[in-house]
Amino acid sequence: MSQFVAALKPRVSVSADTDDQHLRTQKALFLESKFGEFKVRERNVPAVIAGHLLVRIESVALNPIDWKIQKFGIYVEEYPAILGVDTSGVVVEVGEGVSGFTAGDRVFFQTSWDHDKAGYQQYTLTDATLTAKIPSKFSFDETAAIPVALAAATAGLYLEAPNGAGLVTPFEESTRGKESGKPIVIYGAIQLAKLSGFSQIITTASLKNTEYLKSLGATHVLDRNLPAQELASEVSKITSAPINLIYDTVALPDTQKSAYSLLADGGALVLTLPPDAEIKPVEGKRIFQAIGIFVIPHARSLGEKLYSKLTALLEEGVLKPNHVEVLPNGLNGVVAGLERLQADQVSGAKLVAHPQETA
Ligand SMILES: NC(=O)c1ccc[n+]([C@@H]2O[C@H](COP(=O)([O-])OP(=O)(O)OC[C@H]3O[C@@H](n4cnc5c(N)ncnc54)[C@H](OP(=O)(O)O)[C@@H]3O)[C@@H](O)[C@H]2O)c1
Repeated sequence: MSQFVAALKPRVSVSADTDDQHLRTQKALFLESKFGEFKVRERNVPAVIAGHLLVRIESVALNPIDWKIQKFGIYVEEYPAILGVDTSGVVVEVGEGVSGFTAGDRVFFQTSWDHDKAGYQQYTLTDATLTAKIPSKFSFDETAAIPVALAAATAGLYLEAPNGAGLVTPFEESTRGKESGKPIVIYGAIQLAKLSGFSQIITTASLKNTEYLKSLGATHVLDRNLPAQELASEVSKITSAPINLIYDTVALPDTQKSAYSLLADGGALVLTLPPDAEIKPVEGKRIFQAIGIFVIPHARSLGEKLYSKLTALLEEGVLKPNHVEVLPNGLNGVVAGLERLQADQVSGAKLVAHPQETA
C-alpha cells in the first residue's frame, strides 16, 4: 500500500482533508455527449479491484475507433464517455488474487470504455491476465501502440470460424511456422503472418514505407493505389499458389472488393470492419470480421495465451513495436491527433499522447 501512495503522490492532487487514496483525483478526457465535444476535466482515481492492477498511464495510443465514435455516434451509448483503448504505464497497486506483478512494473494492455478501465486518463484499471510487462529495451510509447492492432490481427487469424480464420496460434516455438509454403496477402499489416511461417507475405502500402514493412516481415510490398486487376496480376507474378488467406486491415469498400476478387475459391478473407454491402457473396469464399477485443468471452482464452507470451515475443524480437509519434500537450493534444487520423494524414506510425503531461 505504501508503494501505491508513493507512486500516486507526485502527480495526483490530494484533497486536503483526507488521506483516502480513492478520493484522489486525476485528469481525464471526456467525450461529453453523443456527437459532442471532448473536454479534459477531473475525476476520481478508481479503487483497485480483485484480479486487476491500478496503473499510472504514461502513454496512450490513438485509434480510428476514437474519432468514429465521436463522428458517427457508434458503439458507445453512455455519456459522458472516456475513450482510449491502447495503453502503457506503471503499476501503482496490485489487486487481490493477482500474481506475477508488483508496484513499479512497467506494463502495457488494451483499455476499454468503462470509465475505470479507459485509456484517456491518468490512472486506470487493467485485468492482470490481459496485461504484459514491457521488456526493458522498449519504451512506454512503443508498447502503448501495440495492443489494439495486435488484438485485431490475432483474433482475425487465430480465432475459430465464424470469428476468425482458425489458424494454429504461433506463440509457442513448437507451433510456429505451420503455414510454411503458403502465401498470404495483407492489405495493411504483417508480423503474425511471419510468425505463422507464411512463405510469401504480400502486402499493400505506400511504397515509401517498403523498407520498414520488409523489416517487419513482408516479402513483397505492392503499391496500395494499384487497381484490383493490376494488383492481381502483380500477385500472380509473385506466386502461382492459390491465395487462400487475405487479411484486409484497411477494410475500405475498395480494398474489400479488391481483396475478395483476389481470393481463391475456398479461401478466407478477414476484415477489420463489417463486409461492404456491395460485395456479392460467392459460395466457398468465406468472410470473417475480426473483433480485436479479448474481454469478449469467445476471445478471452486466446488473449490470455497471447499475453502470457507477449513480453517474451517482444524480447526475442519476433514481434516489433510500430513507429510512434508523440503528440504535445498530454490529453489536450488528443483531439488534434484524432483530426489528423480522420483526415488520413498519418502514415506508417501510431500517434501517442502522455496523459501525465496534461496541463
Ligand atoms: N476490428 C477491430 O478490432 C479493429 C481494430 C483496429 C482497427 N480497426 C479498424 O481498421 C481500420 C484500420 O485501422 P488502423 O488502426 O490500422 O488505422 P490507421 O493507423 O489509421 O491506418 C493507417 C495506415 O493504413 C494504411 N492504409 C491506408 N489506406 C490503405 C490502403 N488503401 N491500402 C493499404 N494500406 C492503407 C496506411 O499505410 P501507408 O502509410 O503505408 O499508406 C496507414 O499507415 C480502421 O477502420 C479501424 O477502425 C478495427
